[in-house]
Amino acid sequence: MARLDVQLGPIRLSNPILSASGTFGHGLEMRHIVPPGLVGGLVSKTVTLRPRPGNPAPRICETEAGFLNSIGLENKGIDHYVRVVLPEVATADTIIVTNIGAERVDEFAELAARLDSESAVDVLEVNLSCPNVQDGKLPFSTDPAMAAAVIRGVRRATSKVVLAKLSPNVSRISEMAIAVESAGADGITAVNTVLGMKVDWRTRKPGLWTTQGGYSGTAIKPIALRCAWECARSVKIPVVGCGGIVTASDVLEFLVVGCRAVQVGTANFGDPGLLARLAAELEALLDGAGLASIEDLIGSLELHAPPPARCEPGSSATRDLRTPSARDAGVAAGGASA
Ligand SMILES: Cc1cc2nc3c(=O)[nH]c(=O)nc-3n(C[C@H](O)[C@H](O)[C@H](O)COP(=O)(O)O)c2cc1C
Repeated sequence: MARLDVQLGPIRLSNPILSASGTFGHGLEMRHIVPPGLVGGLVSKTVTLRPRPGNPAPRICETEAGFLNSIGLENKGIDHYVRVVLPEVATADTIIVTNIGAERVDEFAELAARLDSESAVDVLEVNLSCPNVQDGKLPFSTDPAMAAAVIRGVRRATSKVVLAKLSPNVSRISEMAIAVESAGADGITAVNTVLGMKVDWRTRKPGLWTTQGGYSGTAIKPIALRCAWECARSVKIPVVGCGGIVTASDVLEFLVVGCRAVQVGTANFGDPGLLARLAAELEALLDGAGLASIEDLIGSLELHAPPPARCEPGSSATRDLRTPSARDAGVAAGGASA
């Protein structure tokens, strides 16, 4: 049987599959269908300092090939999360990731400080797609300096493992990845939803109350894969891929481009039992391919041609993301065949 456990910074995951924020409750609501021990980790919905009612309906709609949502970070706030959710989540035999969101730099740090003493929390995931109300309402995720300021504040406030969750809605995601790495992030989640819009020509109304929203599901996989690859080749910290993942093959594709783990979001709505099956499906694929460990696939991308230049001036080389065992075994590296 192939080994599925992977190293994510200082944390060992039993397998590389996590739920994606906002698509799986806080994780335990689904335990009768997905026993927590079958996934590498559970990611909470975004938790904010104060309760948020979220946006008015319609705030989710289906499109031809995915979901559009503008939930507006509905949640009951950090007090409720710590008092009610965490004691329950603490019983789960898997890694617990708490996703935090805020509209001000200092609020992110305050949330991180509150959660620092909570032993049930293994990892903090910082949702940088929240609007920055201090500075023009654009999301933190669109400005390297603002994203870095958030991560620096969180880093100072906690000794927990910190993942920075990036947005695909930028022209150079590698710049964002480098900024959050320099600010002290232990890892990157790539990516959140793609900005999109739906309209009904008969009623002339948008599909969402907020007009535009976050697009997710199968259709965004190529975008997410490209973003994850750009991040993985730009930084040394581990990358968790997210976006459009539905099958075990999808998971392996994200690992080949350099991710050490993945998150599954929209696919849970169509198939609530998916996360309970994916690990076994991964094992079968790896056994069929004669691979002893899933880690051997990480960063094993073989390019047809030299990679396009990265955003930093003067650098176009890709890093060797393979584990030492994969290198020794001669598994091909990203860029090595160029
Ligand atoms: C209904 C819904 C709610 C979401 N809520 C959050 C959230 O609260 N925080 C967050 O960081 N991402 C949130 N996301 C984004 C997902 O975590 C994920 O990054 C994105 O959907 C891409 O993955 P997917 O294509 O597998 O769904 C949400 C996505 C959906 C569809």
